[in-house]
Amino acid sequence: MNSFDENSIITLHETTEDRSQDFCPKTFDDYLGQKELKDKLAIYTQAAKMRGEPLDHLLLFGPPGVGKTTLAQIMAHVMNVGIKIISGPMLERTGDLVAILSSLDNRDILFIDEIHRMSAHVEEVLYSAMEHFRVDVIIGQGAGAKSINLPINPFTLVGATTKSGMISAPLRTRFGIVERIDFYNDEDLSHIVLQNAQFLSMQLDHECATMVGKCARGTPRIAKKLLRRIRDFAQVTNKNIIDQQLISQALKFLGIDSEGLTALDNLMLQRIIEHFNGGPVGLETLAALLGEDKETIEEVYEPFLLRKGYIEKTARGRQIPAKKLPFLKQKFLGQNSLV
Ligand SMILES: Nc1ncnc2c1ncn2[C@@H]1O[C@H](COP(=O)(O)OP(=O)(O)OP(=O)(O)O)[C@@H](O)[C@H]1O
Ligand SMILES: [Mg+2]
Repeated sequence: MNSFDENSIITLHETTEDRSQDFCPKTFDDYLGQKELKDKLAIYTQAAKMRGEPLDHLLLFGPPGVGKTTLAQIMAHVMNVGIKIISGPMLERTGDLVAILSSLDNRDILFIDEIHRMSAHVEEVLYSAMEHFRVDVIIGQGAGAKSINLPINPFTLVGATTKSGMISAPLRTRFGIVERIDFYNDEDLSHIVLQNAQFLSMQLDHECATMVGKCARGTPRIAKKLLRRIRDFAQVTNKNIIDQQLISQALKFLGIDSEGLTALDNLMLQRIIEHFNGGPVGLETLAALLGEDKETIEEVYEPFLLRKGYIEKTARGRQIPAKKLPFLKQKFLGQNSLV
């Protein structure tokens, strides 16, 4: 979870926005980009469906907002089975998980979000459920309590995490399929923008969609949010056709520059230049200087800046790559030389 402002355009977790106004992919064809991953999962789901068996357990890891939950929903839709979605940290007692597992129908999908945040004793219940489709149920209380081992319906566990390194080895080995969803390229994001523009009856050409896609930090969720804000902007300025000028104005209004950098991205680069002459600087120092927590910097700001080549990670901390330094010094300090 991130600590930053929920109204920020780059917020990665869902807000209370009206979801009836939202386009949700229901098939693999609607799910744009990620072709290799999609092709693999389409084959696995089709094969399992033909055999009448549940899909093998699947672990999906990748940054927030790239379509992990959406993919699980598509798989359930394609296999024509039910899906239950829960969050790892919400499972406080083993009984909670046993109750959910016992309620699953044959071949249903159980989607556990943030699976790395499940407690160890809840995680242990999953082991025998995943491997043998059996759970231990405690009957009675106190000295008379006894444990009985009951069968449950064969199901598929889809676990999602943004931190693959935090999944315990025993849990990881029980997944038959482990896949990563990476950030999207600008072209795929522009298609996602067009897909949503069509759903929202917005008139937008490919160049405009590309402008929005470029500012979406490799993340479909951000592309969709930007588009909704641009729609607001068009509405209040009374413009029916979305052109490049309107998008530039809207992006400026949202504090996003032509490179897709937000005010905080720019502030982070500025601080590294002003205080550390381009770095290196440790993550903790940087977090303190920006008044943000380390996780937010690592999960939200840094990936985009790394991908755009504005910063690099070294053993001694974050630094501005030599080839970007003159440009950024000029931008923030008005200097022309490297010194
Ligand atoms: N490949 C895609 N094509 C079209 N839309 C997509 C795609 N991937 C994601 N989306 C859209 O982006 C939004 C975010 O996707 P989703 O909630 O599945 O991400 P997530 O990886 O589960 O995020 P989190 O880590 O925060 O749980 C959804 O509205 C979804 O419809
Ligand atoms: Mg999700």
